[in-house]
Amino acid sequence: MDKCALIKYLYIASALLFLSALVISGLSCGESAPEPSPAPSVPTPAIPEEPSSGTPPPPLSAGWTPDGLIGGGEYLSEMAYANGDYELFWGSDQQYIYIGMRAKTSGWVAVAVQPGNRMKDADMVFGYVEDGEVTVLDLYSTGDFGPHPPDIEQGGTDDIIEYGGTEADGYTTIEFKRALATGDQYDHDVSSGKNQIIWAFGARDNLNLKHSQRGYGEIVLPPG
Ligand code: HEM
Repeated sequence: MDKCALIKYLYIASALLFLSALVISGLSCGESAPEPSPAPSVPTPAIPEEPSSGTPPPPLSAGWTPDGLIGGGEYLSEMAYANGDYELFWGSDQQYIYIGMRAKTSGWVAVAVQPGNRMKDADMVFGYVEDGEVTVLDLYSTGDFGPHPPDIEQGGTDDIIEYGGTEADGYTTIEFKRALATGDQYDHDVSSGKNQIIWAFGARDNLNLKHSQRGYGEIVLPPG
């Protein structure tokens, strides 16, 4: 090996030694060198939604009072039948339905949840005002054209929680409140969406007197 080649060889060898020393020192000193802070591996927790439970929506029948007077805003929905001789008003919250009925009569007025035909299995509420005294009955019709005895006479329960009524100027108005689902076998649940009803009114305050007018309709409740 000539002198020049020897110098080259020594130069390369020392360069390799220097590089290896650098690598080794890098490995051993790595622990003390501050690591860049790692990107968070856990996703940032989602912002919690507005509390939905425990904050019930406002009632749909604000300021309901069973005083036999149907005030503006007391009911969200209404429907007129028999050219306005029978009017039905309703609203609900998560637990109850509030109903007002007004008919051109000094006799009885009634409404019934009836998912079938005619009067059979109709879950009726029947009311009248006699000498200033209000009667509201929770009935259930057992046949196509009655009879419709009170639920309590059939082994059920009276589920009219509050009621009131008036008779004035040839009109009878009855208001009442009941649970959307009473649990009584002689009541039908009232649910979101369409509920088929029948309505009727009679000329006198008599539970057995046939209607002077009657018909079909529906109560529509918003999604719960
Ligand atoms: C108060 C005693 C009642 C009697 C004696 C009675 C009797 C009758 C009779 C005989 C019919 C067949 C003749 C007709 O269509 O007019 C009938 C039909 C009907 N009733 Fe009554 N009803 C009474 C109460 C009610 C009540 C409280 C309601 C509703 C809440 C009602 C709703 C209806 C309806 C919707 C029909 C028509 C059925 C059809 O033909 O599709 N009824 N009722």
